[in-house]
Amino acid sequence: MSGETAVHQGPGIQGPGSAGAGRAGREPLEAILLVGGQGTRLRPLTIGTPKPLLPTAGVPFLAHQFAKAAAAGVTHAVLATAYRADMFAECFGDGSALGLEISYVQEDEPLGTAGAIRNAAAGLRGGPDSAVVVLNGDVLSGHDIAAQLDLHRKSDAAVTLHLVEVPDPSRFGCVPTDSDGRVTAFLEKTPDPVTNRINAGCYVFRRSVIDEIPPGRVISVERETFPGLIAAGALVMGYPDSSYWLDVGTPEAFVQGSCDLVLGRLASPAVPPGRGVPGELMMLDGCQVDPAARVHGGTVVGAGATIAAGAHVIGSVLFDGASIGAGAWVSGSVIGRGTQVGEGVVLDAVVLGDAVRIAPGNELRAGARVWPGEELGPTCVRFSTDV
Ligand code: GTP
Repeated sequence: MSGETAVHQGPGIQGPGSAGAGRAGREPLEAILLVGGQGTRLRPLTIGTPKPLLPTAGVPFLAHQFAKAAAAGVTHAVLATAYRADMFAECFGDGSALGLEISYVQEDEPLGTAGAIRNAAAGLRGGPDSAVVVLNGDVLSGHDIAAQLDLHRKSDAAVTLHLVEVPDPSRFGCVPTDSDGRVTAFLEKTPDPVTNRINAGCYVFRRSVIDEIPPGRVISVERETFPGLIAAGALVMGYPDSSYWLDVGTPEAFVQGSCDLVLGRLASPAVPPGRGVPGELMMLDGCQVDPAARVHGGTVVGAGATIAAGAHVIGSVLFDGASIGAGAWVSGSVIGRGTQVGEGVVLDAVVLGDAVRIAPGNELRAGARVWPGEELGPTCVRFSTDV
């Protein structure tokens, strides 16, 4: 598999070190953002748009990550892209609007999480001892990256991992530590987790550790790099934290993350001001919500979207141009761009792709997914008999 590297910067960047004057004078701190995954669990939303670019509380999801990175002092971010790579530069350009400088390093073939980090290192400028922040492109977190960096530097660790506690660690990388905070094992998705502490997807690497990852092949940090470092006796530290944390990789979590941002359960500097946040709903440009509709629970009403009289929309995400018919009931769902939901339709925990049409009389529940451009005629699918 080819690991050939193509480094480029967004439009308007003249060359390395050309960060805008507004960013000059800050101590250089670099980050790699992993954004090359296919986001299969979020299909069909991710067919046309990569997960990190899905609209989330008024901006592409990744804007929240950039804002967080910039607030922690990151001055240069390298995006490790693979799936639909071109869309990232179109969206974020050189990063000047976000207060940091962005470079893009594209994989010819997806190289896995560690392979992507190694590949993206071609875009870094720091020396072997510099700290590099690595962020998964699908995590919302309130943790203090600067404090994680501080621990990393004080302990002179090879890598420092952000850890959180979850009720069911079996779906994640389980990460036990000793009393000094040193990671003693990295157990990826084990049925018998020894601790509730899991890998939260934000790492600080010593640059030289990244350079030791073999180049040009598929490697996973979770399955190979971290267990290998621990087995070799390298100092891997854990930074445990109990603030807000969510991996938005599933439809349920994506909706939850969007609603939490609107409701103010997690503050993000990237949320556009003047849109009623924190509050029960966020209304984007040109949307129309009939006064006789009820909309709450942190719902986002996308630009140009409409909600008709008598509709009830709870904790959902309406992409731009979506329309909800009179008397429809929509809860915990994502409604794609330009999708039309007919009168009285019931949607509960459903994902509708772009340009879908759902005629009256339908009732979709329990994780149903409708692919882009599809049409459900009158009373095609119901979960109950009460038409
Ligand atoms: P699913 O297919 O639904 O599991 O989502 P995903 O493809 O995003 O995978 P996962 O959630 O495990 O990935 C965690 C993070 O790593 C995400 O931000 C991905 O974009 C990123 N990622 C995963 N694999 C690769 C890869 O091969 N290359 C790059 N550059 N990033 C990756």
